[in-house]
Amino acid sequence: MKIEHFDGPIGGEVTGVDLSAIADGDFEALYQAWIERGVLRIRDQQLDDIALQTFSARFGPLEEIPVLLSEAERSQQPSLYVTVISNIVVNGAPIGGLANKEAAWHSDMTYIETPPPASILHAIEVPAKGGDTQFACQVAALMALPEDLLSEISGISIKHDASHTSIGNLRRGFEEVEDVRKVPGVAHPIIKRHEESGHDALFLGRRDFAYVEGLEIDESEELLDRIWRYAALPQNVWTQHWRVGDVIIWDNRRVLHRRDDFDQAARRLMKRCQVLAREAPSTSPIID
Ligand code: SIN
Repeated sequence: MKIEHFDGPIGGEVTGVDLSAIADGDFEALYQAWIERGVLRIRDQQLDDIALQTFSARFGPLEEIPVLLSEAERSQQPSLYVTVISNIVVNGAPIGGLANKEAAWHSDMTYIETPPPASILHAIEVPAKGGDTQFACQVAALMALPEDLLSEISGISIKHDASHTSIGNLRRGFEEVEDVRKVPGVAHPIIKRHEESGHDALFLGRRDFAYVEGLEIDESEELLDRIWRYAALPQNVWTQHWRVGDVIIWDNRRVLHRRDDFDQAARRLMKRCQVLAREAPSTSPIID
């Protein structure tokens, strides 16, 4: 197995490994590279749902597929720990989440107390054009903040909205709330120390419906806009152009991610496992 770093603060390519049969020593090296680089790509993997689940479970406990899927939807899934992200529609019903829409910058499930550290995405079908996924280093974003903004945000917390997906849809089971102070979700400090690497990073979640605790709404909006200007500076962003068989593993504590839209006439089918913090509940109500 070989690991090479991409240019820039995040990202690395792992070659010479079959994730369905990875040796303990290689997994340890891959895990350390993931902590160091925030995002890893492993190409040409052929993993069925159980193999993807088994590999992902080496990172920690896995999230069950969203509880608000209907029983019919759940019964069609080969694994209760592999979520489908897709625009494919079968018999008039989408087989997965997020459709073909652009997904805004976010990290996964930050609206719960203990968000998932790792997300693992495996490409089964990809469009010829569009649907790229980008990652932005939040350690570098923090370091890019001007001194005055850094001191302004030290000690503050942001409330993270639970009620909308990254494509802006209202999640099942939630109601639209206009006042951002009242949206459902939890607050996290805006600067978080990574418990494994020890590095501080910005922890923004997502821009829409965010609220800086204790401020008037217009002050909160203005401050968030100023901070978000530094969240995804081009030099801190790595872009994944998908090929069938790619596996991407990212660290939600270190990177934001977003996705380009793509033509609805094209097919995109991805399988995802979400690795939970050890103390987190095993289910979440949504596809993020
Ligand atoms: C996501 O935002 O988790 C989905 C990313 C993708 O579909 O590439």
